[in-house]
Amino acid sequence: MIQQQIKAAIRDIHDFPKPGIIFKDITPILKDPVLCEGISDAFLEKLKGAQIDGIAGIESRGFLFGLTLATQLGVPFIPVRKAGKLPFKVNQKVYELEYGTATIEIHTDAFTPGDRILIHDDLLATGGTVTATSQLIQEMGGTVAGFSFVVGLSFLNGIEKITPISDNIIILAD
Ligand code: PRP
Ligand code: MG
Repeated sequence: MIQQQIKAAIRDIHDFPKPGIIFKDITPILKDPVLCEGISDAFLEKLKGAQIDGIAGIESRGFLFGLTLATQLGVPFIPVRKAGKLPFKVNQKVYELEYGTATIEIHTDAFTPGDRILIHDDLLATGGTVTATSQLIQEMGGTVAGFSFVVGLSFLNGIEKITPISDNIIILAD
């Protein structure tokens, strides 16, 4: 049900940001508060009973439902940001992209070692971003308690990359 609603709302934009790429535009979801509430409820239902001490949301679209989820679960939200955006002391991770590298950062005091962290993003594509996030969280002493995504692009096999990290993977629509 929620899967169909998400799929119907997502808008495919051809050749954005580069020729040959079909961009999954989630902004129509954000225009629909009933659907947004349904998405939050679906995550909460699937997370029932899970022991989670914090939600790490990945800039920028992972902030949208990530903070809502953290607030509803009553746990801290941990912003995972692109390099140079967080003002306090950070730990960082450099990871490979198709062309070049990218860097993500987390504040050194964002969580306590031993915490069980759920990593949230809007979309799972190759899995590169969440894999780097998992490594950074683990290097900081956290445990990856699982992953949650609104959408997964199954043809890119990101799920195979992240299953060895945690098989607690929530994907509402694929
Ligand atoms: C998109 C998407 C995920 C990531 C998925 O973010 O929101 O964060 O790519 O790709 P991957 O699984 O191949 O790593 P993008 O970099 O476009 O930035 P944005 O969220 O700030 O729009
Ligand atoms: Mg993103």
